[in-house]
Amino acid sequence: MRELIDKLHREKVLSKAEFVELLKGFNKDDAQYLFSQSRALADELFGKKIYIRGLIEFTNFCKNDCFYCGIRRSNHQAERYRLSKEDILSCCEQGYALGFRTFVLQGGEDPWYTDEKLIDIISSIRRAYPDCAITLSLGEKTYEQYRGYYKAGANRYLLRHETANAEHYAKLHPPAQRAEDRQRCLYHLKEIGYQVGTGFMVGSPGQTTEHLAEDLLFIKKLKPHMIGIGPFIPHKDTAFAKFPAGSLDLTLFLLGLLRLMLPSALIPATTALGTIHPEGRELGILAGANVVMPNLSPVWVRKKYELYDHKICTGEEAAECRHCLQGRLQKIGYELVVSKGDYVER
Ligand code: 5AD
Ligand code: FES
Repeated sequence: MRELIDKLHREKVLSKAEFVELLKGFNKDDAQYLFSQSRALADELFGKKIYIRGLIEFTNFCKNDCFYCGIRRSNHQAERYRLSKEDILSCCEQGYALGFRTFVLQGGEDPWYTDEKLIDIISSIRRAYPDCAITLSLGEKTYEQYRGYYKAGANRYLLRHETANAEHYAKLHPPAQRAEDRQRCLYHLKEIGYQVGTGFMVGSPGQTTEHLAEDLLFIKKLKPHMIGIGPFIPHKDTAFAKFPAGSLDLTLFLLGLLRLMLPSALIPATTALGTIHPEGRELGILAGANVVMPNLSPVWVRKKYELYDHKICTGEEAAECRHCLQGRLQKIGYELVVSKGDYVER
C-alpha cells in the first residue's frame, strides 16, 4: 500500500485498478502513512491556515427527487421555507462582521427564484461586499443562466457530481436526473470562468470501490478548484432511511488521496463528517482538508434544511459556530483566516 501512496504523491494519479487496490486494502497504518503526507503537503502549501465559508441555505424547496436527500420533492414531512433578499443580505452582514469573506448561497432547485430574482440578489451582494467571493450552489441550470449569474457577480459554483458512474447515479436519482447532465453543467461552469467545486458522498447505497475509483478519476479529469466529500447519512423520511451511514475511516482516507492528487484544491471538512463523529471535522483537517463551511442561515430555518438526520449546528447562531470552530482548530494547531481564499495554483 505504501508504494501506491508514494506513487500517487509523485505522479498525482493512479490507474483505476491501483485506486481499487488501495481503497480495498488499506489498514490503519496505511491511513496514518497517507495522512502524514497529505497533511504535510497541505501545511506546506497553505500554512496552518484554514479558510472559512459562510453557508446561507436560502430555500429548501426543491423540484428534484434525489433518493438520499431530506429535502427531496416527495418528502411531504419537510417544512418548506424561502429567505427573502433582505434575509439573505442580513446573513451576509452578520457574516462579514464575523470575518467571513465568502458567502455560499445554497438551496434546492427552486423555480420560485427566477433568474431575475437571483440576479438581483447576487448583484446586491456584489455591490455591498466588493471584497467578498460569492459562491452559488443552486443545482443544474443552462449555460446562459450560469453566465447570467457570473456576470451579476458570482465567482464560484458548487455542484457535486454525486457519483461518476452513470448506473450508480441512476440508483440514487429518478430517471429525469442524469449523470451526464450533471457532468455537462460542471464543464459549462468551468468554461464560463467560475471556480468550480464538485464532489461525492462516501458510502451511498449501492456504491462499490470501483465507483469510488471512478469518482477519483473523474475529479482528476475535471480538475475542479474545490472538492467536497462527506459520508452518506440516512434521512428518516427517504427511501434510503434504512441504509447505514458511510464510514469515517474511508471518507478520511479519500480526503487524503484527494489532497495528494490535487495539491492546490480547496477541500472542506464537511458538516456531514462532523455529524458522524464528534471530531469529524478536525480529523478531516488532519487528513488534508483546508476549508470549513459553517452555517450563516438564520436559526429559525436551520432544522428545516436537513438533508440527513442529526445534522450538527442546527441550534447554534452563526457567531457560536464561528467561535466553536476557532476553538476546535486551535486545539489541533490551526487557525481560521479572514480571507476570500481564492484558488491559487501552487
Ligand atoms: N447524506 C449525506 N450527504 C447528503 N447530501 C444530500 N443528501 C445527503 C445525505 N443524506 C449531499 C449531496 C449534495 C450536498 C448538498 O449534500 O452530496 O450535493
Ligand atoms: Fe456549530 Fe460547533 S461549529 S456549534
